[in-house]
Amino acid sequence: MSKFLVTGGAGFIGGNFLHIMVKKYPNDEYVCIDALTYAGNMETLEPILKEKNFKFVHENICNREAVYKLFEEEHFDYVINFAAESHVDRSIENPEIFLKTNILGTQVLLDACRKYGIKRYHQVSTDEVYGDLPLDRPDLFFKEDTPIHTSSPYSASKASADLLVLAYHRTYGLPVTISRCSNNYGPYHFPEKLIPLMIQKALRNEPLPVYGNGANVRDWLYVGDHCNAIDLIVRNGRDGEVYNIGGHNERTNLEVVKTILKALGKPESLITYVKDRPGHDLRYAMDPTKIEKELGWKPEYNFDTGIQVTIKWNLENKKWLEHVESGEYLNWLERQYK
Ligand code: NAD
Ligand code: TYD
Repeated sequence: MSKFLVTGGAGFIGGNFLHIMVKKYPNDEYVCIDALTYAGNMETLEPILKEKNFKFVHENICNREAVYKLFEEEHFDYVINFAAESHVDRSIENPEIFLKTNILGTQVLLDACRKYGIKRYHQVSTDEVYGDLPLDRPDLFFKEDTPIHTSSPYSASKASADLLVLAYHRTYGLPVTISRCSNNYGPYHFPEKLIPLMIQKALRNEPLPVYGNGANVRDWLYVGDHCNAIDLIVRNGRDGEVYNIGGHNERTNLEVVKTILKALGKPESLITYVKDRPGHDLRYAMDPTKIEKELGWKPEYNFDTGIQVTIKWNLENKKWLEHVESGEYLNWLERQYK
């Protein structure tokens, strides 16, 4: 039996991770700590709230005293850090909270791991730390040794955290791993990100705001496949190593939007080109050879199958979406797209 601390578990990926792992490993215990920011949603955790091997703690990872107390009481074996401010557009509007949570929050967790001892600390990171690739070089992919070269305050904060994690390994011998993943999509995705936002807007016959000319490319990975990759790394990965996760599912934003419109039987005339994001990364594309060869990871979904499951989930979970949309999110959306 092992005890896991999962931070940011009321968010999109952490929530999906907990749904899978709490049921898959009934003999392990999962404690979720989450500050419940605008992106944290207890309704996401409802399916597992009553499970015996799950516990929720409402707390901020930046609160050193509270984090130390939790470590002292729980004696964690593994710490998996999903907690973050995660939306690039918000980081452009207000970078400070990104630096606080993504960098200083990570430092508090690393210090707690040093102080109380753990078997492994895992940092959930992103392909965005590598910057972007040109659109006219489809032969290029991010590898684990691609230099860090960030574009947005979000990616800069995630890259800073990665460097801190590796420094704690080198300097203090802390057993750590890092995963860097491409864009996720799937159930419980907050509708400020491209795919769930476009699904909701299409369902309401509202204009779909595509930044710039829609030619930017993202490498889409179904969230469950990301979660399984993290589980493999945490249990079988090597200390001090970085693992790239991605499924070679590159699509332009325009292709993604058109796929959604087609699946919902909506016209392409809903597509509206809006002002481009400042510093907008052109193309992300991962080379996942290392995790495939070393840990035997293989994604279950490709984009064509994953997007259908995701659209179906959005159609069948209107209550979850309505509750999200009746919050602060609506005000922010008005400001962003007015
Ligand atoms: P999310 O925004 O949906 O969820 C983040 C969660 O962290 C929320 O529940 C929020 O309440 C919580 N949180 C925020 N600040 C906190 C704090 N100070 N203390 C405690 N909890 C706090 O994000 P997500 O999409 O689920 O991403 C999870 C992780 O995966 C992030 O680290 C992100 O950088 C990384 N990542 C995301 C993607 C993606 O496509 N979404 C891709 C690669 C990596
Ligand atoms: P997003 O989901 O914000 O993820 P990330 O910026 O981390 O890749 O955006 C995915 C892509 O979609 C990105 O190229 C920006 C673009 N985009 C739009 O064109 N319109 C939108 O309303 C949003 C939110 C994103």
